[in-house]
Amino acid sequence: MFIPPSFIHELLNRVDIVDVIDPLVPLKKKGANYGACCPFHNEKTPSFTVSPTKQFYHCFGCGVHGNAINFLMEFSGLSFVDAVNDLAEQIGLQVPVQQKEVDSNRSRADSRNSFSMKEDDEQRVAAERPENLYEVMKLAAQYYRAQLKNSEKAIAYLKKRGLTGETAAHFAIGYAPDGWQNLKSVFNDYQSGAGADALKNAGLVIEGSAQKRYDRFRDRIIFPILSLKGMIVGFGGRILGQGDPKYLNSPETQLFAKGHELYNFFSARRAIRQTGRALVVEGYMDVVALHQHGIEYVVAALGTAITPFHIQKLLRQTDNVVFCFDGDNAGKKAAYRAMENSLPYLVDGKNLSFLFLPEGEDPDSYVRHVGKEAFEDFLENALPLSVFLFKSLLVHVDLQTDEGRAKLVRDAKPLLKQISAPALVLMLLKRLSELTNISQRELEEMLQIKRTVASRVRDKAPRPRLVTPVRWLIQILLYQPVYFKKLDRSLLANLGSLHEEERALKALIEISDKHPHIVDETSGSSLMVYFQDNPHRGLFETIESETLEWDNAIDLEAEFSGALMRIQEMQRKRRMAELHSKPLNSMTIEEKQELKRLAMS
Ligand code: GTP
Ligand code: MN
Repeated sequence: MFIPPSFIHELLNRVDIVDVIDPLVPLKKKGANYGACCPFHNEKTPSFTVSPTKQFYHCFGCGVHGNAINFLMEFSGLSFVDAVNDLAEQIGLQVPVQQKEVDSNRSRADSRNSFSMKEDDEQRVAAERPENLYEVMKLAAQYYRAQLKNSEKAIAYLKKRGLTGETAAHFAIGYAPDGWQNLKSVFNDYQSGAGADALKNAGLVIEGSAQKRYDRFRDRIIFPILSLKGMIVGFGGRILGQGDPKYLNSPETQLFAKGHELYNFFSARRAIRQTGRALVVEGYMDVVALHQHGIEYVVAALGTAITPFHIQKLLRQTDNVVFCFDGDNAGKKAAYRAMENSLPYLVDGKNLSFLFLPEGEDPDSYVRHVGKEAFEDFLENALPLSVFLFKSLLVHVDLQTDEGRAKLVRDAKPLLKQISAPALVLMLLKRLSELTNISQRELEEMLQIKRTVASRVRDKAPRPRLVTPVRWLIQILLYQPVYFKKLDRSLLANLGSLHEEERALKALIEISDKHPHIVDETSGSSLMVYFQDNPHRGLFETIESETLEWDNAIDLEAEFSGALMRIQEMQRKRRMAELHSKPLNSMTIEEKQELKRLAMS
């Protein structure tokens, strides 16, 4: 049985290693990573580390290392194929089996759209008896989607809103036709029986007086809402045109908790990892429009305020979250609540920021007016949480008076006390001290913020350790495979075979040339698929673990050119040493010239 590597990549991009490991080995947050006592060797202090952004685990004690698949294999003793099946099942992906590797690029493109429904499923719809809520949701989504194709007016509405057919298909947008009991045509049990109860429990059917049942969604555009595992857990339904309520969402059900889910999170996850940031907007249509314009790292809360659950989920996926709000008062209020809700979850190295759109614009209209590039430029205007926090507080105080400054301290207190990120607390205290003319020490006392908190601050972002330039380059390539693309191969022509690191680098580049799409991966851990039997595997794992503490305070671009420069320098010195070791009288003219050139450069 051959599983295409492209699928393995897709799978590793879709699962969250934290979700995979945590139920088996409970993890504790440890800075940007998670930690636990290592399940693979006996220890009392935790040295097992899981990186949520890079999606690998590593034990500093015994050296085990790998991605979600490796973990299942090693922890549960599964075979590779079983581990893949297990993971795929967890997130509802179908494992494609292929004869040869030839089609791996195509199947990659297909599996990206794995949400699209299969035709033969649609045929079975009427006959199948829904056994569980997920199944009910899936069948309903298929039905709504098919109805969209039949409805001129729904299609016209979406066209008027500027949606392409491709976008509608990507989001599996559907249409619930007018009428009270349309779902009857899909589900044999509608009025009574187990299937009917499932329909009711899934929130698709409402039971009115006299036990009369009817469809919740009628004459509405339907947006399926997927959980992080890719299962449909709810729907949002928009009226075509004006009317009240504009949006009708699925009720809270066994599957669906509004305050937990984010619209488009499942499908945006890949882009979020790739770009290193997530954009949070307010509406379904905002997400859809931004995606259509090429901004794919976007999610929306489902008509609720941003909750602590949202924040935690987002911060697990990325270090940078930009909340985008309308420029009006309602937008500012919503932003303030999002800020308050996020304080307890802030970690140094994670950046939350708040973006306000020009009056009268929402992300949907704005991206249409200005396009992707200008929209992304505009993202730079987002206010970092610390700035937004004081800006909001200062609206209500007059810094010219003692009373005003005292009020600022009082207002800031409940906010600051919720933050446990030491560097951030320190910075906010400094700022508060500047604004109020109260010394930091006095503020710490007034606010009962412990000094120890502030003194634990790392004053420097972790930088790559001092290592050989070749190892440095491997670190960067594994950390961010896109650098394979930027690597000038000719530079490496002279790498020797004496050092394992140099042989490993060559092997690594060969692998990347053979599988060009790995440059799209967001970490080396999914590259590990290709290293299964590689003699350098152990070295790659160790080197990858050396990047565990890296975060986006690192200027990778600069590190990359730094590594290349040092490799060049190393090669220059090597060649000079080689030439110097020759007796002068046996050197050719060319060699003498070369030596001179090398010595001067
Ligand atoms: P369009 O008007 O179609 O552009 O919608 P939008 O996606 O821009 O929504 P809007 O900005 O008006 O509202 C933001 C989000 O709040 C929506 O996507 C819904 O999730 C939610 N929402 C808006 N109106 C209602 C409503 O009447 N009822 C409920 N339950 N939610 C709503
Ligand atoms: Mn809108």
